[in-house]
Amino acid sequence: MTDDLLARPLALPAGPALPNRFAKSAMSERMGDRDFGPTDALVTLYRRWAAGGAGLLITGNVMIDRAHRAETGNVVLEGGRHADAFAAWARSTEGTPARLWMQINHPGRQTPRFLDPASVAPSAVPLAIGGGTSATPRALTHDEILDVIARFATTASLAQEAGFDGVQIHGAHGYLVSQFLSPRSNLRDDDWGGDDERRRRFLLEVVRAMRAAVGPGYPIGVKLNSADFQRGGFTEEASMAVIEALEGEGIDLIEVSGGTYEKAVMFEETMPQGASSEAREAYFSDYAAKLRERVIVPVMVTGGFRTRAGMEAALADGATDLVGLARPLAFEPDLPQRLLDGATDAATPVKPATGFKTLDGMVQGGWYGAQLKRLGRGDESSPKLSRLRAVWECLTTGPRKPRGPLGRLCLSRRSSSPG
Ligand SMILES: Cc1cc2nc3c(=O)[nH]c(=O)nc-3n(C[C@H](O)[C@H](O)[C@H](O)COP(=O)(O)O)c2cc1C
Repeated sequence: MTDDLLARPLALPAGPALPNRFAKSAMSERMGDRDFGPTDALVTLYRRWAAGGAGLLITGNVMIDRAHRAETGNVVLEGGRHADAFAAWARSTEGTPARLWMQINHPGRQTPRFLDPASVAPSAVPLAIGGGTSATPRALTHDEILDVIARFATTASLAQEAGFDGVQIHGAHGYLVSQFLSPRSNLRDDDWGGDDERRRRFLLEVVRAMRAAVGPGYPIGVKLNSADFQRGGFTEEASMAVIEALEGEGIDLIEVSGGTYEKAVMFEETMPQGASSEAREAYFSDYAAKLRERVIVPVMVTGGFRTRAGMEAALADGATDLVGLARPLAFEPDLPQRLLDGATDAATPVKPATGFKTLDGMVQGGWYGAQLKRLGRGDESSPKLSRLRAVWECLTTGPRKPRGPLGRLCLSRRSSSPG
């Protein structure tokens, strides 16, 4: 009987109902071509996920401006370029009930210097990690902020034209939207900063501009931090107030995550410090349960779901409407279908293993990214990657914290951590 919970369709305010409660959360694929267009590997990868049973697939972050990218290999959608390739990507779900949404992002200051030596942000506050591998950003002017807002809307409208079923604004994990929301990175005292209401204005204006561009029947979602878990940063209360305001704008789905690359709680496998410690499997569920008392907008909790019991409990007590899954689907792309069929009760536990012990803790993002590349080539995932592959991923994706000479080398060459 409880199986029905995961199989039940979910009606959204805009667009058709989602066929079930599984959502593949964004994972940066880094499979763009040299001109930042989508490659065939993305089509292969998303065909695999579409056949894997999740009712909603959210792409990895697509950038709105080729001058400001978060990672090597990012796809950029900013004009009429690559229209056929984007349309082919959008068609990857054909023949399945899965819906495909594009995640849209601007990195702001959270980008390596070698990719973006002239990064921009709400204020000229550098990242507190990375030992200078990211440039100190320049504060955006009022007119530039309006331009960035317009770019978010243009990208959404191009995604709609290409055939994507919806869009999601990346408002989490320390990228530009999240930089505007945090008092640590937004020191402005104008229309765009100074108090919570002005700090959230940027996101609300992005949503308004997007809605005007795509019309009323097209789903727009936002991925938002429950908090950034940093002193003086974006708080749980501020986050809930943002979501109330977003609900007023007619948003269709809120995905709850948390953390930034300065405090990367979204990659914990267990509860982040400072979060309430009720024994829930998905570590942002407690926040989501409180949120449900304030808003009725559909909610997707992502981070830590691994077992059918944990997923069903979160759906049954109303903490979430959708079960967001990222890392498990890099390794087991058909996990949702197997859970729906009763063929399994949990994700297979995997530990990133590279063959180099010291690398294992540092290359998580790269390890999962390498699994995506295998799936994009039409291969199976692999619990053990070759040492060469691991070192390569380390050099091109990099750790979050340098440890030892190899760690420092990886960090100095990193193309930013994923997502
Ligand atoms: C390789 C990789 C890439 C990611 N890229 C993104 C991204 O582009 N956008 C995003 O919002 N989150 C990104 N994330 C974070 C995931 O969406 C998710 O929030 C996080 O992995 C926790 O969920 P999980 O426990 O199911 O993996 C990425 C995670 C991984 C492992």
